Amino acid sequence: MTPVFDTYSAYYDLLYRDKDYVAEVAYIDELLNRYGKDVNDLLEFGSGTGIHGKLLAMKNYKVTGIELSQKMSDRAEKLEGFTSQQGDIRRVKLERTFDAVYSLFHVMSYQTSNADFSSAISNAAAHLLSGGLFVFDFWYSPAVYAQKPEVRVKRMGSEQVSITRVAEPEIYPNENRIDVHYTVFAEEMPSQRHQVFSEVHPMRHFSLPEIDLFAESAGFERIGAEEFLSGEEPGEDTWGVCVILRKS
Ligand SMILES: C[S@@+](CC[C@H](N)C(=O)[O-])C[C@H]1O[C@@H](n2cnc3c(N)ncnc32)[C@H](O)[C@@H]1O
Repeated sequence: MTPVFDTYSAYYDLLYRDKDYVAEVAYIDELLNRYGKDVNDLLEFGSGTGIHGKLLAMKNYKVTGIELSQKMSDRAEKLEGFTSQQGDIRRVKLERTFDAVYSLFHVMSYQTSNADFSSAISNAAAHLLSGGLFVFDFWYSPAVYAQKPEVRVKRMGSEQVSITRVAEPEIYPNENRIDVHYTVFAEEMPSQRHQVFSEVHPMRHFSLPEIDLFAESAGFERIGAEEFLSGEEPGEDTWGVCVILRKS
């Protein structure tokens, strides 16, 4: 067993090669324009391997990424307009403010306890002036209850490596938490050398009233909530909801 996103980082970009980061960045750009005014200077919470940050920098945003895993952060491409540094979104203090904070691909659902989630959302507020935006997505409780997490197998491959990832959920109904047990089998080419490793990713799911409670106590008001990417109204079939909070 390795720390979350440690060994995983080596295979992260390949595992999510099918994720449409370009469409996601177009969506975030549209949200920032819809809800904000002259938004340019962005703070990213949980910037991972830096793909959103890089693509937003290519749209002329200035992005500062904070990422807990040093190994994930090290993989981020350095380019003008985007920096990535190791840090914890619950407590990092950059001693400056930004036009907006964003956090994508369920980073906020990794903040599983009330204390952790509350610290992260308050820390977003601390890096914004009044009127600043905090945009993030998270696992949505109504969909988790209606659909129930199940065992999933994902296979991805490149010329260098072939990967099979098994995701097994363990449900904690009284904590709004699912622990996803990942087992990753990687076969390197052409040596056929095998590596098998496991990580547990604890994920919290939230309802909108819960988000509102955390948001209000951190000094935000919620000004939007929709299905991530489609913009549809959240419902029992919406696993990933995106909220737009404005600092009061
Ligand atoms: C599913 S990945 C998403 C990465 C990136 N946002 C993306 O869309 O590819 C979740 C990321 O959140 C990071 N993370 C989780 N908790 C964090 C924390 N407290 N502070 C900083 N990063 C955190 C993890 O290390 C991981 O890189």
